[in-house]
Amino acid sequence: MPPSPSSNLPPGVPTIRVVAMPTDTNPAGDVFGGWIVSQMDLAAGTTAAFRANGRCVTVAINSLVFLEPVVVGDEVSIYTKIIRTGRTSLTIHVETWRRARHTHITSKVTEGEFIFVALDDKRRPRALPPLEDTLPSTSHENA
Ligand SMILES: CC(C)(COP(=O)(O)OP(=O)(O)OC[C@H]1O[C@@H](n2cnc3c(N)ncnc32)[C@H](O)[C@@H]1OP(=O)(O)O)[C@@H](O)C(=O)NCCC(=O)NCCS
Repeated sequence: MPPSPSSNLPPGVPTIRVVAMPTDTNPAGDVFGGWIVSQMDLAAGTTAAFRANGRCVTVAINSLVFLEPVVVGDEVSIYTKIIRTGRTSLTIHVETWRRARHTHITSKVTEGEFIFVALDDKRRPRALPPLEDTLPSTSHENA
């Protein structure tokens, strides 16, 4: 039996899920890459804030690859996973998956590594709290 189209989806639930709309397109009519990156950044930032118990900023995007286009009407799901933590920083693996509207066919469209830094109220790097003190999140695994 051929594998299900969804068989390689990351485990767990996506951090965010959104439908690509006509306002999200580039002049050629495909969904604008910058819109997808902003969704990835939002999702990774949500995961970072849970782990850091507070404010975080993106300091770097280490890698980012666009594998397939996204088109209007696609359901766009962003999966995040913390793969590394330092004293103040977190590295988050982010995958974007599309599901074509009215189908069950899913495919991975982007993948990247985002680095966040936890900040204090003076916008300076802040040490991450111990793992046991962080807020539980259903959408990712903590490193
Ligand atoms: C994030 C920021 C506070 C870091 O300041 P900084 O003086 O470089 O801080 P540090 O040198 O102490 O580094 C803090 C952590 O970030 C990591 N870091 C800094 N620059 C990095 C880079 N380019 N790539 C990967 N990690 C980096 C350091 O390794 C360190 O991690 P660790 O504590 O886990 O070891 C500062 O660069 C900043 O405010 N940048 C702008 C952020 C922003 O506006 N983002 C867009 C909107 S969210």
